[in-house]
Amino acid sequence: MYERTYTQRRSLAQRRANVRHASACRPLLDTDKLKHVGHFPSLLVACATFFLIIAGALVTSHDAGLATSDWPLSNGQFFPRMVGNLFWEHGHRMIATTVGLLTIVLTIYLLRKEKRRWVRRLAVFALFAVIAQGLLGGLTVKLMLPLAVSAAHATLAQLFFCTVVNLAVVTSPSWERRVATIDEQGIVPARYLCLAAVATVFLQLIIGATLRHSVTWDKFLPPDLLLAHIAGAVAVTLMLAITALTILRRHPNQIFLTRPAAIALALLGIQLLLGLAAYVTRQASPNDPQPLNPMVAITVAHVACGALIFATTIILTLRSFKCLRSTGEFEFAGGFRVKS
Ligand code: HEM
Ligand code: HEM
Repeated sequence: MYERTYTQRRSLAQRRANVRHASACRPLLDTDKLKHVGHFPSLLVACATFFLIIAGALVTSHDAGLATSDWPLSNGQFFPRMVGNLFWEHGHRMIATTVGLLTIVLTIYLLRKEKRRWVRRLAVFALFAVIAQGLLGGLTVKLMLPLAVSAAHATLAQLFFCTVVNLAVVTSPSWERRVATIDEQGIVPARYLCLAAVATVFLQLIIGATLRHSVTWDKFLPPDLLLAHIAGAVAVTLMLAITALTILRRHPNQIFLTRPAAIALALLGIQLLLGLAAYVTRQASPNDPQPLNPMVAITVAHVACGALIFATTIILTLRSFKCLRSTGEFEFAGGFRVKS
């Protein structure tokens, strides 16, 4: 007769305990999933918007904004032949239409399923932002790319991206699980440093958009705007580096905070190099016969990396407000925070 050894009996008992534990956890996991229904769709819209920003930047860098002066149709057609610069311009419109439709679906979905009112409001804001962005896109074509409208279109693109990244963050499973339990250290709270970094990056995006749309590739960049953008780069570098290093130094074991801080630092380094390369290729481009691929690739990468820096800084800010608290604050079990 087969006799089980002590070790075999122990491992069997352990496996049974594991099965019992797993079935006890299952309903909890299911409710967890149900709670975060909005995360995947928000993430999908955020990724699609990032792709759309790249597609838009390709329109600008190829100087394809007026491939057709028609809107909402392109050369009187719903789907024209995608030849020459129309490939970039009409391609951008098609991707924008897809993002618009996805945002409508996301908003309806969150309005039906999301419990938190402020998240539902944020979704409605995203919907209005994407509609306004589409209208600005049409307007910039109809008015033949005036600086104010084109720069506003580029800036609202970043704001819309920021809103959907926000939605993806606050609907994520890791967001709900966290409560503010980590005490702020130092004189200046890290949360306020994060806020200041977001504001500085956003201002730099506006200056960048104004610089980029002030002249086409066949003219030299205006020195005053270029200087303003370089001054902005210094401000962003200082603000973001101070913020990220503060987080890394004060909370080295909080990966929830240190990961976005480290990513923001890495992206900042890449962005500074791309900015320098964008400057060099743009200074050379007025002598070129047409927008050449190195200039197009570098300027588009600079716009895209700007969007990624903005998104990462926003994630860092949201997370810092989620899990850091001022010293002297304590938490009730119900989740309300009061000053002691
Ligand atoms: C969700 C909607 C949209 C988003 C997020 C978006 C985003 C962008 C971005 C990021 C750029 C590049 C800006 C830059 O490189 O500085 C751009 C350029 C452009 N977009 Fe859109 N866009 C949207 C909808 C539209 C629509 C519906 C049109 C309709 C015509 C349009 C027309 C243009 C044009 C013509 C440019 C080039 C502007 C220029 O070179 O001055 N966009 N878009
Ligand atoms: C961290 C710092 C920086 C950020 C966040 C940033 C961001 C941006 C963005 C977002 C744009 C395009 C805006 C748009 O059209 O939507 C832009 C344009 C530009 N940036 Fe920066 N930038 C930074 C640093 C620099 C530096 C150090 C330089 C080097 C001189 C530079 C040179 C340029 C140039 C030349 C353009 C215009 C490109 C073109 O005409 O196509 N940037 N920047």
